[in-house]
Amino acid sequence: MIKLSKRLKTIANYVNSNARIVDIGCDHALLDIYLVSNNPNIKAIAVDVKEGALSQARKNIVKYKVQEAIDLRLGDGLDVIEKSEINTVIISGLGCPKILEILTNNKDKLTNVDDLILQSNTDYFSLRKQVCALGYYIAAEELIKENNIIYVIINFKKGTKKYKSKDYLFGPFLRQERSKLYIELINYELQKKEILYLQIPRKYVLKRQKLRIEILKLKNELKRKS
Ligand SMILES: C[S@@+](CC[C@H](N)C(=O)[O-])C[C@H]1O[C@@H](n2cnc3c(N)ncnc32)[C@H](O)[C@@H]1O
Repeated sequence: MIKLSKRLKTIANYVNSNARIVDIGCDHALLDIYLVSNNPNIKAIAVDVKEGALSQARKNIVKYKVQEAIDLRLGDGLDVIEKSEINTVIISGLGCPKILEILTNNKDKLTNVDDLILQSNTDYFSLRKQVCALGYYIAAEELIKENNIIYVIINFKKGTKKYKSKDYLFGPFLRQERSKLYIELINYELQKKEILYLQIPRKYVLKRQKLRIEILKLKNELKRKS
């Protein structure tokens, strides 16, 4: 049985047992192998732009004998997908701008997509805000810590909900739960921004001002009584 990292296992938990998924940036395709091995009704398309990644994925797929359930494709994001093929999109381990580029470049391919399961390495504010602008709402969020890194995993579902700016910034569920890991994440972000602030020369007034506001928001979130 294939063993997944805690991060990938958490992502796998959000996938429906009869989903037709595309995993963009599949790399080794371990997530897809795990999903189809544990759920006979899941069909996966695993996409990567790098031939090297795909050849490793191919070897893994053969090793675990799941060739029937996983379709490997070389290409950029959703370019190599037909909209009728999928109802779930998984993108993990990429930066927010890249994830948004992949989704917005092929909006029409999302017509039948009910679930987006996203784990970005950066900028959750823009991710939440812009994915919601594509016609999704935040159905669930989870924090996990692995190898000393805190990851945010978000499951968006098709539909609309109204959010405050703070919900986009910190996550509506994460803010409400206010777990120890959440406080650790906010402290970490705060430290990062304070260090960055000290490194910006005084002549970049607007940049410093923008960062000051971000620092203040993080401080206020830490001080907030639940
Ligand atoms: C850091 S790995 C993440 C692998 C895996 N998704 C995970 O979370 O462990 C990022 C992968 O995305 C692929 N990638 C980057 N941009 C892509 C794009 N536009 N379309 C498809 N794959 C992409 C890279 O080649 C790389 O294999």
